[in-house]
Amino acid sequence: MKPHRHISAQIWLLALACCTHILQAQDFKKQVIYQIVTDRFYDGDPSNDNPAQSAGLYDSTKTNWQAYWGGDLAGIQKKLAYIKGLGVTAIWISPTVDNENKNLASGSPIGSPYHGYDARDFMRVEEHFGDAANTWKAFDSLVAAAHQDGIKVIVDWANNHSNYKGGGEQGALYNNGVFMASDANDPNGYFHHNPDIADFNDRYQLQYYTLEGLEDLNQENATIDNYLKTAMQQFQAHGADGFRLDAIKHATWGWEYSLANIVFSNKPSFLYGEWFNNNSGDPLYHDAYKFANKSGISELDFGVNQAMRDVFAGDKNFSELDSAITTENANFVWQNDLVTFFDSHDESRFLTLNNNKNRLHEALAFLLTCRGIPVILYGDEQYLHIDTSNGNDPYDRVWMSSFDKTSAYTLIGKLAALRQSNDAIAYGSWKQRWINNDVYIYERQFYNDVVLVAINKNNSATYNISGLNTVLPAGTYTDYLGGLLNGVSLSVQSGSGGNNPAGTFTIPANSVSVWQIAGGTPGPAVGSIGPTIGQPGMSVTIAGDQFGSRPGSVAVNGAAAAIQSWSNASVTFTVPNVANGIYPVQLTAASGAKANTIQFTVLTAKLVPVTFTVNHAPSTNVGDYIFLTGNTIELGNWGTTFDSAVGPMLDPNYPDWFLNVSLPAGVTVQFKFIKIAADGSVTWENGNNHSFMVPVSGTGNVTVNWQN
Ligand code: NOJ
Ligand code: NOJ
Ligand code: CA
Repeated sequence: MKPHRHISAQIWLLALACCTHILQAQDFKKQVIYQIVTDRFYDGDPSNDNPAQSAGLYDSTKTNWQAYWGGDLAGIQKKLAYIKGLGVTAIWISPTVDNENKNLASGSPIGSPYHGYDARDFMRVEEHFGDAANTWKAFDSLVAAAHQDGIKVIVDWANNHSNYKGGGEQGALYNNGVFMASDANDPNGYFHHNPDIADFNDRYQLQYYTLEGLEDLNQENATIDNYLKTAMQQFQAHGADGFRLDAIKHATWGWEYSLANIVFSNKPSFLYGEWFNNNSGDPLYHDAYKFANKSGISELDFGVNQAMRDVFAGDKNFSELDSAITTENANFVWQNDLVTFFDSHDESRFLTLNNNKNRLHEALAFLLTCRGIPVILYGDEQYLHIDTSNGNDPYDRVWMSSFDKTSAYTLIGKLAALRQSNDAIAYGSWKQRWINNDVYIYERQFYNDVVLVAINKNNSATYNISGLNTVLPAGTYTDYLGGLLNGVSLSVQSGSGGNNPAGTFTIPANSVSVWQIAGGTPGPAVGSIGPTIGQPGMSVTIAGDQFGSRPGSVAVNGAAAAIQSWSNASVTFTVPNVANGIYPVQLTAASGAKANTIQFTVLTAKLVPVTFTVNHAPSTNVGDYIFLTGNTIELGNWGTTFDSAVGPMLDPNYPDWFLNVSLPAGVTVQFKFIKIAADGSVTWENGNNHSFMVPVSGTGNVTVNWQN
């Protein structure tokens, strides 16, 4: 018996070894992302600077900020050693799909789509970034080289629109070179043809009106639904590891759940979207975090973005940043997956706001130790900024004119390495330990992995810190940054209840000290799961520490999952056949030791979008809405609250309401409509439940009358 089992275990482990290198880790919490505007980075292939089909959009003098300047995919590939040296592990590149070919204004190249957000053909690669035949060659080559260097490739992706409807190609959309429609020639309803969004707090306008004149794609149209999903899967087949989803507040929200589901079902991936402006001051804040909590799509963290810019550049009180993080942590379930940033291609650069490199360094140190997955905007590490027009778009999209080993470059490298060596950064909790206007001391903790960071942003004042407590064990800690930002040592006495006193000490002006211990975990411990939602059969990865080298088991609501790969820090399993619901996932090591559980949502089946319409709903007052609820997790399991029911529905034809919702393919669902009043009170429609069989593929439609 014994030798036999030994042999089969060996064969099994061989099989595992073969599969692990095919699967790409979904644990994006350990990534540091470098955002590149491809056109502005490096010209690696001058032959694509001024391609014939879109001639005249290139400016070799780099003085017309709306023209192409020559950067391309080959250029990024040529600079991979520089990017790898920075310590980042992922690049987010501007949209690479084939863009509009024409000038927006006749004559000089004004408003060329050098930024990539004006697509014409999502199935092909833009000629300025690849080659004149729009082939995949340069893209494939970049992805292969990046993967060789351990760098993931995240593609910016705009599902909301094609190109400007009022100029250039007038919204024209192609499928691998074959014309589909344009603004004036759209017999199949591929576009919405609504006016520009006027009210950015109106859910219907946001999703169905036109964003900044860009031809608005109708994702509920079966052809467009299939086109966009096929295009994303094609990019996955060409090695894209993740997508930054442009303007997710403007594409159809319910449809985006099925988009995420297709992407995750196809291949491991990470999705994060631009929901501008998902901070707590936004009237649609609740919609923003409901979407992030349920869709499987994480979001760029605009709350921390604004607070970081105010505090580090604008010299506001650290309490603003502390309260932004506290508020978001209370609302976003997957807070360590939020994508954090203080600069982007849509905002003036930090050094334009405040030309103080110390402050930039402090902001970088905060970003890289804060909870969330950090993004560094290309060129910030070179201190690049152009202050024309307050550095706003397009002046923030500077040419990457130097590739030097600056202090910022060194700093980013050190803190990116800490994210790999100390799990408190990627997986840890967040705790404020000491704060005043200028000083912020916060602690990250994942079991015995601890990172304590002290920032003094005052340009001249030192501070005496007294009464600081930490979970760092008693001992002396030198500054992990080795004094790079004037950090000091810390000595800790033993205390009780996780409060070990640090006595009184002094921190210099403009300093960042990082004290840390990678104490590990006492047993198997889970810090991450990705994706967070999927149907039986989907591959899911959990990450953490001390899983052991020999396979143990994973159970979803008690049901054993098939293990695809197992290592000490990462396990990939297949979602087992369990009924739909939100469940704890339990990892058990081969030793029998159990890890902490982590939440996962099991869908009933893969998702397809269905548009629900309920006519003649009861009258509503301001703040009252009609919602949909029903008998599966996708329909909220008969929930009757803003968070648990599906909605709010939309009422452009009041008192008729509609909503696009992603539902389990081929399943017959039961549902009803409810009115949730502003005070939370619920009115159910009368009669029996409605029932609907969701199509097995494509899109669906169901229209009923409210049952009085
Ligand atoms: C947001 C992008 O970040 C911005 O740069 C772009 O112009 C718009 N979405 C439209 O795609
Ligand atoms: C939209 C409003 O915001 C909502 O509260 C109201 O119930 C409907 N319109 C109908 O007036
Ligand atoms: Ca083109």
